[in-house]
Amino acid sequence: MILVGNWKNYPNTKEEAKEILKSLSRKAKVFKKLHTFIAPPVVFLDVVGERVGNIGGLASQDIFEHTGTYTGALSISMLKNFGVKVSIVGHSERRKLGESNLGVSNKVKTALKAGIIPILCVGEEVHDNDGGYFEFLSEQIKESLQGIRKSQDAKNIIIAYEPVWAIGKEAKGAMEPKELEQMVIFIKKVLADLFGRKVADSIAILYGGSVDGDNAKSLSKGTGIKGFLVGRASLEPKTFSSIALALTK
Ligand code: PGA
Repeated sequence: MILVGNWKNYPNTKEEAKEILKSLSRKAKVFKKLHTFIAPPVVFLDVVGERVGNIGGLASQDIFEHTGTYTGALSISMLKNFGVKVSIVGHSERRKLGESNLGVSNKVKTALKAGIIPILCVGEEVHDNDGGYFEFLSEQIKESLQGIRKSQDAKNIIIAYEPVWAIGKEAKGAMEPKELEQMVIFIKKVLADLFGRKVADSIAILYGGSVDGDNAKSLSKGTGIKGFLVGRASLEPKTFSSIALALTK
């Protein structure tokens, strides 16, 4: 099982970041039973990288797909040298800023080439009654994975299904487990169309969107997911460790 904490643009200070890590270390045993990763803001990659070993590994929230000289950018080799093992790509909050499926597919390829595991975020904005989200999702997945042909590459990709409408809500705003199960089956079918059934079955699918201590168990049991990508709740050590515990049971 995989658990990723996406800190987004929080906390505000280095001291707070250290405090969170310190609290998480107290629950190291439960985190170590999983593949746990923390994706801090860039300015805390250093401080988190030095401490995260107690509970898991370092992740980045995004990657930059170009090589060359670009003011304000962060190169993939910098991330590698900081010890980043996995990278979130195509998060809906970045897509909202204009990132296209093609751009996301280039990030996936850049990560794979550098030996970093990409966590490709996908998810519909609205869950309408006419099922239009199926088509949206299928297209988003296929376009975000365009140009990936080798099974070995496909196997190294993680998919995070994060329905945009379920992000940043209370626990009851998350997707219902029954529905999640259906969506996981659908995503696996899309992946099977691309890479064949065997490879599709080996690709881990995570769920993200208002996961917390109250719904982690029901969302992880029988839904076919292999873990969570957690936003806000990952900044609260108590809640994050109860999510971890739910995944170990
Ligand atoms: P949330 O965010 O857990 O705060 O809903 C999830 C995400 O955006 O990755």
